[in-house]
Amino acid sequence: MTEIIDGKLVSKKILQELSEKIALLEKKPSLAVIIVGEDPASKIYVNLKKKKAEELGIVSTVIEMSQDVSESELLNKIDELNKDESVNAILVQMPLPKHIDANKVIEKISPQKDVDCFHAYNVGKIATNNKPFVYPCTPKGILELLNFYNIEISGKHVVVIGRSNIVGRPMAQMLLNKNATVTICHSKTNNLEEITKQADILISAVGKAGLIKKEMVKDNVVVIDVGMNRDENGKLCGDVDFEQVKQKASYITPVPGGVGPMTICSLMVNTFDLFKTSQEKI
Ligand code: GUN
Repeated sequence: MTEIIDGKLVSKKILQELSEKIALLEKKPSLAVIIVGEDPASKIYVNLKKKKAEELGIVSTVIEMSQDVSESELLNKIDELNKDESVNAILVQMPLPKHIDANKVIEKISPQKDVDCFHAYNVGKIATNNKPFVYPCTPKGILELLNFYNIEISGKHVVVIGRSNIVGRPMAQMLLNKNATVTICHSKTNNLEEITKQADILISAVGKAGLIKKEMVKDNVVVIDVGMNRDENGKLCGDVDFEQVKQKASYITPVPGGVGPMTICSLMVNTFDLFKTSQEKI
C-alpha cells in the first residue's frame, strides 16, 4: 500500500504547537521580509509568509523595494535590519534582479538573523556537521516529514536531484549528517535513470514537470517531490509523474500539499528559534 505523505497535516501539527508557545510569550518574535521588484510568484510567496506569520502572532514586516533599487541601497537596508533589535529574522526573497549580486546580499545578513540558512557561516556549519543558527526551510521540512512517517534515513541510499543552494546542496549535507548514503544528480548527470533506480529515497528538486517516471524508480521507493511547476493545463504539479510513480512507491508526497506547506512551516519555526536565541543573549 502506498502512503501519501500529508504535508498539510504535519505542518498543521507543528504550527499548532508553535502558536501555543508564541501565545505564552510577552514579547513576540519578528520577521522582516525584503522583496525586490514585481515578480508575481515572489509576491504570492511573500504574502503567504506574512499571512501565516500573523496567524501565529509573529510580527511580520514586508519591505518592498523597486526593481531598479541599487545594490548598495539594499545592502544598507539589510544593515539597518541587522542592527534593529526588534527584528529577529531577515529573509530576502529570491530571485533578485540581475544587477544585484545575490551572494553579496546573503553575506550581508547577520548569521544570527539568517532565517533561510543561506549565509556561508550557517552553510559551513552544516557542511562540517556542526550546528547552524537554524536549518534551511525546505530541507528541514523534508526531514520533518520523513521523521513523522518514521522513515529510516541511516544507511539508506538517498538520491537528490538538483544542486541548488536553497534545496539540493543543503539537503544532501543534512542527509549525510544523518548517515544516509547520498548521491547528488543534476542537469549534467549521465544516465540519470540508472542512478534514480538505486534510490531508497528519491528527492527531486529540479522544477521540471514529468521528469520522474515510473521506469526510473524501484519498488517501494520513498518519493519526495520538491518541484513546483504548471502542467500543460496550467495546474500546479511537481517533478514526479504522481499517478504513475505512486503505483510503485511506498510513500510519496503530492504537489500541492506535500513539501510546500512544510517550507513555510519551517520558516515560522526558524523565526521562533532565532527569537529564542536572541533572548538567550540578554
Ligand atoms: N525563493 C524561493 N524559495 C525561497 C526561499 O526559501 N527563501 C527565499 N529567501 N527566497 C526564495
